[in-house]
Amino acid sequence: MAGLDERTYDDRDGWIWLDGKLVPWRDANVHILTHALHYASSVFEGQRAYGGEIFELSRHSQRLIDSARILGFELPWSRDQIDQACRDTLKANDLVDAYVRPVAWRGSEQMGVSAQKTKAHMAVAVWDWGAYFGADAQAGLRLDIAPWRRPAPYTAPVQAKASGLYMIATMSKHHAEGRGYNDALMFDYRGQVAEATGANAFFVKDGVLHTPTPECFLNGITRQTVMGLARQRGIEVVERTIWPEELEGFEQMFLTGSAAEVTPVREAGPWNFEVGEITRVLQKDYADLVRGLRGNA
Ligand SMILES: Cc1ncc(COP(=O)(O)O)c(C=O)c1O
Repeated sequence: MAGLDERTYDDRDGWIWLDGKLVPWRDANVHILTHALHYASSVFEGQRAYGGEIFELSRHSQRLIDSARILGFELPWSRDQIDQACRDTLKANDLVDAYVRPVAWRGSEQMGVSAQKTKAHMAVAVWDWGAYFGADAQAGLRLDIAPWRRPAPYTAPVQAKASGLYMIATMSKHHAEGRGYNDALMFDYRGQVAEATGANAFFVKDGVLHTPTPECFLNGITRQTVMGLARQRGIEVVERTIWPEELEGFEQMFLTGSAAEVTPVREAGPWNFEVGEITRVLQKDYADLVRGLRGNA
């Protein structure tokens, strides 16, 4: 469970897939002069395995390839090879329910802003990770309003799951935690409602689901899945611009993400929500889907 495991992430037993080989966990290291460490030339993924099956594995592998391409580097592994690396790592660590973290980065062949001569590297780690927001999250998260805004698509590569984009997410998350909140709701550069620091946002009003159009944040795989599940239930889904003032009129709010799954929100800044039926139904449908208990939309 998040926060309860006192072991650091570099000092564990197990295996990590690194550039084509499974290596002992503690040996999966990079040099200090790695381009990615200095210039954020790295991209990553995050997905979960349920009962030994990694949910939407190929979509995550493809997004890793696409994210690297957006940053201008090509991974020397195909989508199938990345899928296999994830499965092999899961198996090597003897886990069936786990979080899976592929990461790709530019190496240490060149220093400076230019990275033309760097080689692409990739690793996959897996570990046991319970509810992202902890067990108490079922009563509904409390979100602060982030002091940072999601950047414009012409300011940063917003459709890539690029490590550099998480700088403002971590700063916003720390700001929120420092004020006693679980996470932060981020607005975008225009002041429109965007997402949380690591999950997409949904709202419910009069039985209809509303979610911001992903123009300057990740169009999450869970987001797309939950929209499909809602439609299967006959719930209308509206993707649109949402302004903060509208939050006053919404009855329910929840977050979606591969790590966060479907997590209810009871408070975002000055606005309050109930943990209502549509949230609970979609939470259950998602839980059933990822465990293979119902068909995808
Ligand atoms: C900033 C951000 N937004 C949204 C998401 C949700 O994306 P997905 O559902 O594909 O995991 C994530 C999680 O990866 C994220 O980090």
